[in-house]
Amino acid sequence: MGVLARYASLLPVTDATPNVNLEEGSTPLVLLSRLGERLGIKLWGKLEGCNPSGSFKDRGMVLAVAKALEDGAKALICASTGNTSASASAYAAASGVPCFVLLPAGKVALGKLAQALMYGATVIAVKGNFDKALELARLAAEQKGCAIVNSVNPYRLLAQRTGAWEICEQLSDAPDWHVIPVGNAGNISAYWAGYTEYKRLGKASKLPRMMGFQAEGASPLVTGKPCPAPETVATAIRIGNPVSAQLAKAAVAESGGEFNSVTDGEILSAQRLLAALGGVFAEPASCAPLAGLIKLKSQARLPEGITVTMVLTGNGLKDPDTAMSQVGRPVEIGDTLDELLRVIEGSAVK
Ligand code: F0G
Repeated sequence: MGVLARYASLLPVTDATPNVNLEEGSTPLVLLSRLGERLGIKLWGKLEGCNPSGSFKDRGMVLAVAKALEDGAKALICASTGNTSASASAYAAASGVPCFVLLPAGKVALGKLAQALMYGATVIAVKGNFDKALELARLAAEQKGCAIVNSVNPYRLLAQRTGAWEICEQLSDAPDWHVIPVGNAGNISAYWAGYTEYKRLGKASKLPRMMGFQAEGASPLVTGKPCPAPETVATAIRIGNPVSAQLAKAAVAESGGEFNSVTDGEILSAQRLLAALGGVFAEPASCAPLAGLIKLKSQARLPEGITVTMVLTGNGLKDPDTAMSQVGRPVEIGDTLDELLRVIEGSAVK
């Protein structure tokens, strides 16, 4: 069941809302016990890479597209660091509506680019960063009457609350800490809105501290000012002027949480650790929170034994280039058993 059906009573869906559905949501919440033991916490990973287009964006996109169709939109438009464009293109394809996606030229992971092109969107590479692309998309949407499906579209964040609702259902309560990567700052805001709504409805007994992690080279919410030239290996969160900055600041302040940043090196080593100790391959941006937990632990700022949920926002398969730049190559052999046995005997497993 997709999120519109599963959470119909908590979302603005009516009889007039088209039934858009790619069976998004209901993603696994996995106990990462080996990582949790190292950190001295109970660590849960929300596997948002299991969504149909491989990222959390599908939760909000399904409602944004359904409402756009309900309002008679003839085309969709968005700017994106990659995942929003993949998601928008997928739902546009399934709904039979044209989609224009604006991407920062040369700064989008290969898998995401392949997705948008395969789903049949008009893919436009802008010589500028995401912030510039979003500015252009908003102006074009106004002039051409296209529905903009970035998180400036309020339906996106309303439906992204479903991630928090699922976590409360999976854990039978809210966690102590919720750690999440922050780019345009919509998701952290949506999760906070989701947790507070479930607390209000009596479906959770407490609220988590919201801990938002940015890449050091694109950390406007940590430095407190826009970053004119954002740069990070985690291209999904390569954003200098987050649209939902105010909402995100409120979420962090109200929850007693914080924004923090991690270096590209810390992000990449967290990505390898998550794969090697957790069995989960997530894209670099998704690993900023794990890098952040490791950093806080090293500063003795991670309380022992707490329950932490970590949103693994996008699938690692989206960015094969970054992954391959960090790992070795396969061991090559001919086609004999002897050669194979030599490899096995030469490894740690005897
Ligand atoms: N993680 C991934 C994998 C993302 O793609 C994004 C944002 C974020 C985290 C940050 O979420 O923007 O709500 O704070 N990607 C957007 C895009 C910007 O265009 O795909 P946020």
